[in-house]
Amino acid sequence: MARSLAVLVMVATLTAGCASSAPTAVLESSQRFGDSIELPTPDRSGSATLEQVLSQRRSQREYASDELPLATIGQLFWAAQGVTDAAGHRTSPSAGAAYPLELYAVSATTFMHYLPTGHRLEQRPDDTTLAQLAAAAFDQEFVGSAPVVMVITGTWARTEAEYGAVADDLVNREAGHAAQNLLLQATALGLAAVPVGGFDPATVARLLALPPGEDVLYLLPVGHPASSDGP
Ligand SMILES: Cc1cc2nc3c(=O)[nH]c(=O)nc-3n(C[C@H](O)[C@H](O)[C@H](O)COP(=O)(O)O)c2cc1C
Repeated sequence: MARSLAVLVMVATLTAGCASSAPTAVLESSQRFGDSIELPTPDRSGSATLEQVLSQRRSQREYASDELPLATIGQLFWAAQGVTDAAGHRTSPSAGAAYPLELYAVSATTFMHYLPTGHRLEQRPDDTTLAQLAAAAFDQEFVGSAPVVMVITGTWARTEAEYGAVADDLVNREAGHAAQNLLLQATALGLAAVPVGGFDPATVARLLALPPGEDVLYLLPVGHPASSDGP
């Protein structure tokens, strides 16, 4: 792995000019909708062991109707991309610590964007996108029935600045790390979740009004398991 990273550094040196063509708007994770709010402090001391969580994780596609509290959504964001040291490193590894991923959550009322620095969130009212996500996911109806769909996107230009032509591959791999962290956190919280790769990226990007250069990599519907629904 050390050798392949050395090769990547060489590739980066050879293709350094690519960085200058990157749209500046997508090089940094930043606020887009206006004011942001601080999320509740993430829980770093859950009681389930890693081995228990690994044993229990299962893709689940049936959800109770109850909404997820903001603290829970924040905990899922943190598990995927939370900042965990003073240098700004995160819960998920990132090639060259470029952190090209962005995280969103879509509920029946709100569109949320995670700001890892300071564990913050910006949000805007949105009561149409969730219902349209199932169609964009080739009519996988459970996508629209989840109280929240977490979305992982990749801003390839951040990684391209360092690694040139292999940026796409690296960013895709990072999405896997972040998605698994999120799924394990959901399991630890007793939530139901599933990774969804079957969707039309261009349609979802349009629904979320993503800026140019940001690609949708994963959808992750999350909710309480259907069996916890009241009578
Ligand atoms: C890259 C990827 C894409 C996936 N896409 C979908 C999907 O579009 N729809 C779906 O219902 N499940 C999807 N899954 C979930 C798999 O169906 C599931 O992981 C598999 O059946 C194994 O079950 P488990 O996750 O419970 O271990 C996807 C999983 C991965 C890793």
